[in-house]
Amino acid sequence: MSVEHPEDGWRPGWEALGRQLLERGSMTHDWAAPFAETPRTQFLPAVMWPYDQTTEEHVAVDRTADPDGWTRYACSDVAIITQWDDGTRTTPGTDMTSSSSMPSLVMSMLADLQVQPGHKVLEVGTGTGWNAALLARRAGRGRVFTIEVDPTVADTARRALSRANADVTVIHGDGLAGHPAAAPYDRIIATCGLRTIAYALVEQTRPGGVLLIPWGTHFTSTEATARLVVADDGTSAAGSFTQRVTFMRARAQRLAVDAYDAYVTSESKAGAEKSHTTLAHDEVFGTTAWDDNQFALGLRVHDVVHTRGPEEGGARPVWLLSLNDRSWACVLFRDGRDRFTAYQYGRRRLWDEVEAAHAWWAEQGRPGFRRFGLMVDKAGQHVWLDDAHNVIGKFPAASRL
Ligand SMILES: C[S@@+](CC[C@H](N)C(=O)[O-])C[C@H]1O[C@@H](n2cnc3c(N)ncnc32)[C@H](O)[C@@H]1O
Repeated sequence: MSVEHPEDGWRPGWEALGRQLLERGSMTHDWAAPFAETPRTQFLPAVMWPYDQTTEEHVAVDRTADPDGWTRYACSDVAIITQWDDGTRTTPGTDMTSSSSMPSLVMSMLADLQVQPGHKVLEVGTGTGWNAALLARRAGRGRVFTIEVDPTVADTARRALSRANADVTVIHGDGLAGHPAAAPYDRIIATCGLRTIAYALVEQTRPGGVLLIPWGTHFTSTEATARLVVADDGTSAAGSFTQRVTFMRARAQRLAVDAYDAYVTSESKAGAEKSHTTLAHDEVFGTTAWDDNQFALGLRVHDVVHTRGPEEGGARPVWLLSLNDRSWACVLFRDGRDRFTAYQYGRRRLWDEVEAAHAWWAEQGRPGFRRFGLMVDKAGQHVWLDDAHNVIGKFPAASRL
């Protein structure tokens, strides 16, 4: 990956993007100057894969072959993939493993973080280094530390930050452990998705300091940003969720579900219990992963992943797989029916768990993500509804999330 020096061709596009973000309310006015001084053209590689909203696909853009197209994407409100499959290939693979996030998301998260000049900030997930450069423009020289798990990505970002004259310390390592050498921090921001917020990050933030972490459960592929404030005694951090997001997951917390075959053996198929449900698919799971359904269900049904199988004979199967044993369930949804067949196998009755979670969610008035909150202490993660005393889900520190 090579990062080129910016040319002035980026300026009109970048200024137009800045105006657009301000008008839409994605960027607050205090971030307008740092944004203007930090074009992301300085941080993007010559070959990159922006998300094209027209084709709804990632397209390869090469700065040498198409300099105008490259600049246009860099100055657009789109996410840009910069690495596939942990860098084991230079063409699109199966997993997007590093990127520059959508500018509107970056700027709205920075607004949520409320960074002040002089704050000491730690970022988990350096990526291109653009977000770290923005942080440094606001917090000040020598005040920003950023950790990247991938050595090549870390080196490339370090060089880009140095060329952009952004005084940021780039550390190669696992950001989940934080960077104790420079603690305590006033702010910690993660730009990768977490299923477990390591207590080390709470310990490394000063009392009253803020952590902004994209957090979710394994039930869904999306997250919500948890904005946690560290308590006066420094032993816990708590707060609510500010927006729905989707981030690449922290490497160590990527989902490694065993192959379907490990669950659905001929023995387990023969032993599966058959039942029926009248709950329709969209009623339970919503129409997209962005609906509140899946976020809420994951808070009650722990250590379970759900996936949709290929349509077969008019049936649209939904699979539920347990992450802590080999329990599974499969529900066959069909259009135009009001009764569906469910199969369940193993110690857990996963469809029963989902039905119970859905009934609970409906009874609570179908709360959206903003009504939930999160508290992290040494014992683990505790999710509440409406009030910090009303804990509705506990994820012990050792639990697989
Ligand atoms: C969405 S990108 C970050 C975007 C970045 N902030 C920017 O401005 O370009 C997510 C990054 O998190 C990194 N990452 C994943 N797990 C990590 C971990 N445990 N510690 C540190 N970095 C991690 C990935 O390698 C990837 O580069």
